[in-house]
Amino acid sequence: MKDIFPARLVTVISAAICLTWTTAFAQSAPAPAKMPWMDITLSADRRAEMVLEKMTLEEKLSLVHGTGWGVLRKGAPVPPRSNMGAGYVPGIERLGVPDINLADSAVGVRMAAPESRYATLLPSAMALAATWDESAAHLYGEVIGRELRAQGFNMSIGGGVDLTREPRNGRNFEYVGEDPVLAGNIVGQLALGVQSQQVMGDIKHFAFNDQETGRSVVNVQMDKRTMRETDLLAFEIAIKLAHPAGVMCSYNLVNGAHACENDYLLNQVLKKDFGFKGWVLSDWEATHSTVQAANGGLDQELPGDDFFGAPLKQAVATGKVSMDRLDDMNRRILRSMFAAGVVDHPPVRSVVDPFRGKDDSRHIAEESIVLLKNAGHQLPLNPATLHTIAVIGGHADVGVLSGGGSAQVDAPGGNAIAPEQGSALWGKPVYFPSSPLKAIQRLAPHVAVKYASGEQPAEAAQLARSSDLAIVFVTQYMSESVDSPTLSLPDAQDALIQAVAAANSHTIVVLETGGPVSMPWIGNVSGVLAAWYPGIGGGEAIADLLFGVVNPSGKLPITFAKQDADLPQPRIAGMTEDNKPRRELSEDTHTGFDMTYPEGVAVGYRWFEIKHRQPLFAFGHGLSYTTFQYSNLRIDAEKRSVQFRLTNTGKLPGAEIAQLYVTLPASSEEPFQRLAAWQRIPLAAGESKLISLPLNPAYISIFDVPANQWKLLPGEYRIAVGGASDTALLKGVTQIR
Ligand code: BGC
Repeated sequence: MKDIFPARLVTVISAAICLTWTTAFAQSAPAPAKMPWMDITLSADRRAEMVLEKMTLEEKLSLVHGTGWGVLRKGAPVPPRSNMGAGYVPGIERLGVPDINLADSAVGVRMAAPESRYATLLPSAMALAATWDESAAHLYGEVIGRELRAQGFNMSIGGGVDLTREPRNGRNFEYVGEDPVLAGNIVGQLALGVQSQQVMGDIKHFAFNDQETGRSVVNVQMDKRTMRETDLLAFEIAIKLAHPAGVMCSYNLVNGAHACENDYLLNQVLKKDFGFKGWVLSDWEATHSTVQAANGGLDQELPGDDFFGAPLKQAVATGKVSMDRLDDMNRRILRSMFAAGVVDHPPVRSVVDPFRGKDDSRHIAEESIVLLKNAGHQLPLNPATLHTIAVIGGHADVGVLSGGGSAQVDAPGGNAIAPEQGSALWGKPVYFPSSPLKAIQRLAPHVAVKYASGEQPAEAAQLARSSDLAIVFVTQYMSESVDSPTLSLPDAQDALIQAVAAANSHTIVVLETGGPVSMPWIGNVSGVLAAWYPGIGGGEAIADLLFGVVNPSGKLPITFAKQDADLPQPRIAGMTEDNKPRRELSEDTHTGFDMTYPEGVAVGYRWFEIKHRQPLFAFGHGLSYTTFQYSNLRIDAEKRSVQFRLTNTGKLPGAEIAQLYVTLPASSEEPFQRLAAWQRIPLAAGESKLISLPLNPAYISIFDVPANQWKLLPGEYRIAVGGASDTALLKGVTQIR
């Protein structure tokens, strides 16, 4: 039994129900050894089948919904065996089926502090994508899985893979950028990492939850080919790689049907075409019906039972939902539990190791920070040549910013800028205690490092003027349920940078943002680092990059546009006339709206190519303190591979992310290049390596809708290899017959 139970306010009714559960379990549970499905030599499918045969109707109905809002909503009953996470589904003790305890864990485990637990804040998922490193993604998942297990959870809620169609989307920091192949592989590895810890993994939000404005009422209208080649391709790659236990369906509608009752998305694509064997769980209150949802492919309603409680029992009784379908829901849940190992290896509580978590988080941050600009080799900084450094803004004296909403992790010791606040509040920016200022001071012990908050631009400029160098930290807080109305930095931070840059020509800007921002001051500063939300080791990671302890190697997983006007939609659809971010349109007006994303299949960098628009920084862009040379391109159409030589021509060791882009034959009617492969290649100074990248047919095909399958078109394929989507250093052509 849970020892933290008395700390919670629970209604008498729920306490009584809970008592009944526990006593019933205590009396009827046979020893697990006597249950034949506990034979670990049997397959997960067989074991699930054996349990299913023994289940009563009531038991089958109990596994397909949660028990309510629990700790997420003040006053809601909290079942005694809930582990105080976002979701809870009671198990069936007499059959050895464990409870499902789910915790939000997009960038680390949420809501640890109220239970006196600790959770590591990882860099944002967008930052992870900027590493382009599958092993970093696996590690990211391992940290989450490890800490979930230690805290007593057996299922993660995370793995956001919706593509960035809307660069101002409040949840972009939970997602992994704009390219389906990069996003799918990164999230697939992340989910594999979670599941390597015997915790059930999840991927979300299925599908096209690409903006928060009006997320519950927006009806995304898209043709099948576009769907399959963009967001759904990212899901397909991730799901086939990781075989996650769960896929969370989203709030929005797609082609007229809610995502959680969308036959095309759930039954035809996810379950049939992708062969997904896990279960579909609804986003919190994203279920809208009983019969349509059950028959449309939803397997579990969360967090409560409005539709899959009594109404589902009724629907099964009248045959509107077949017993077969109810069995299918249960089979999917049970087989995923066996497959992930949560039956044979239930979580064992232990104390989370914060040092290990911080080391892992810092390592990922160091690979993720992108050096966007470095004029005149301003960076790396050499402390021996500096006397004074001005550090300005962004609360850099105390910590680094984190993303909000259901991805919010609790900061150890409370919010670094307002410790008295206690537990994290929805919509309030939380800073983690990893001070860039202190880390800079440590790396430059003989330099006078002074701080100005930036609240007074004139005072900040004064400090910059009297210093050898100024480093300005700027922040953009983003959170679930609200999009940023523009690409501009909030709170007059553009003006702050302009004032500082006018006072000191050696100005470096460090961005802590959810995604891309515009930079009207770009011509006036000498360096820019995109640090995203860098996690609990972020302050140290930023300093390491500034001083060259670590050579930058991150690359943009998303295009940075110069201005809102260059985006497919200058204004976010569903925003009010005066460009105000509006909370959930449904909550106030209940009015929906159709959304046809104008870029269609040309998401992100593809849009900029077909519109001949110059971005501020292109997808794939990222500088290093060393230089790389690409040479000797060879394309082997037979072996479907592209070879070239990469040489580190500089004086420092560094890692290059070499990228392969392919433009399909004209018959594809897709006149833009797409990312087909990449590799992160560490090279010592002067070292040279022959690199071979695959021309994977899965990534250079089109989706043939009438045949409902991928098709590799015959014809001429244009190949470009380089360190960014806009720098084709090697070009070639190959024929595929
Ligand atoms: C979010 C989900 C989250 C759930 C539970 C919803 O508002 O969209 O991503 O997992 O809440 O906290």
